[in-house]
Amino acid sequence: MSLKLLVITILYAVTSALAQTHAWCDPDTPRCFQAIESSDLTIAAAFSNSTTATDFVGEIISPVSNKWVGVSLGSRMTNNLVVVVGPSSPTAFVASARMSSGFQPSMVYPIAKITQLSGSRTNATHWKYVFRCERCLSWTDFTGTPHTVHPKSQVQAVTWGTTAQPSNPNFGFSIPDTKLLFALDVASARTANYSSYF
Ligand code: HEM
Ligand SMILES: *[C@@H]1O[C@H](CO)[C@@H](O)[C@H](O)[C@H]1NC(C)=O
Ligand SMILES: *[C@@H]1O[C@H](CO)[C@@H](O)[C@H](O)[C@H]1NC(C)=O
Ligand SMILES: *[C@@H]1O[C@H](CO)[C@@H](O)[C@H](O)[C@H]1NC(C)=O
Repeated sequence: MSLKLLVITILYAVTSALAQTHAWCDPDTPRCFQAIESSDLTIAAAFSNSTTATDFVGEIISPVSNKWVGVSLGSRMTNNLVVVVGPSSPTAFVASARMSSGFQPSMVYPIAKITQLSGSRTNATHWKYVFRCERCLSWTDFTGTPHTVHPKSQVQAVTWGTTAQPSNPNFGFSIPDTKLLFALDVASARTANYSSYF
């Protein structure tokens, strides 16, 4: 086990040490989320108040130096649904749902559907991608094991890279060297206004 993996494993075990999301409203659109703000990134999520819903709305704000950002909806990379997105031009984004069975480039997970929402844009310093992810709150991994995003709180992982401009949903990228784990307060991210978000 590499030192990095050991450190991450220990961090995961001591969940109280994890960064926690807080209430955050996008200053440019009437959407409020639970978000983590770290490493000049904002990773935000909002959920329906229905606990049987299978979709969520997410927002990723990143410095333009990052060509892509990936968010694992579970605490680990393998066997979890990972949303990967980055700008393909100054006005367009490429986003995809991925899954990997091991420590290797992930494959597109075709069941999940990601739709870009209003407010997505790039300016001189940051890009911002707002999306709805449908059929994303539960998934079956390559071994047939089902996974769900916990209805109250979910540990997620985020990573990013400064190379590999996204060009298509299956674009490849190199092993990210920085990873951030955080606890998403799903219960507090629920909003009765959810359907107005898309
Ligand atoms: C794009 C989204 C990605 C996310 C969110 C992500 C997240 C993570 C996390 C949380 C871990 C540590 C825990 C675990 O899963 O075992 C990990 C480990 C690892 N990941 Fe990823 N990863 C991503 C992409 C990639 C890609 C594209 C590669 C390879 C091409 C890769 C290669 C590895 C390797 C080799 C490890 C083993 C631990 C290490 O030595 O750092 N990852 N990843
Ligand atoms: C660019 O976008 C970022 C992230 O939304 C924002 O904080 C910043 O104020 C924007 N810059 C300008 C000049 O509008
Ligand atoms: C969600 O909010 C709507 C509108 O306020 C309400 O009608 C509905 O009963 C709520 N559902 C749950 C599960 O709380
Ligand atoms: C829901 O939307 C209404 C109308 O836009 C607004 O007045 C209210 O503050 C919103 N509530 C939440 C929890 O976002």
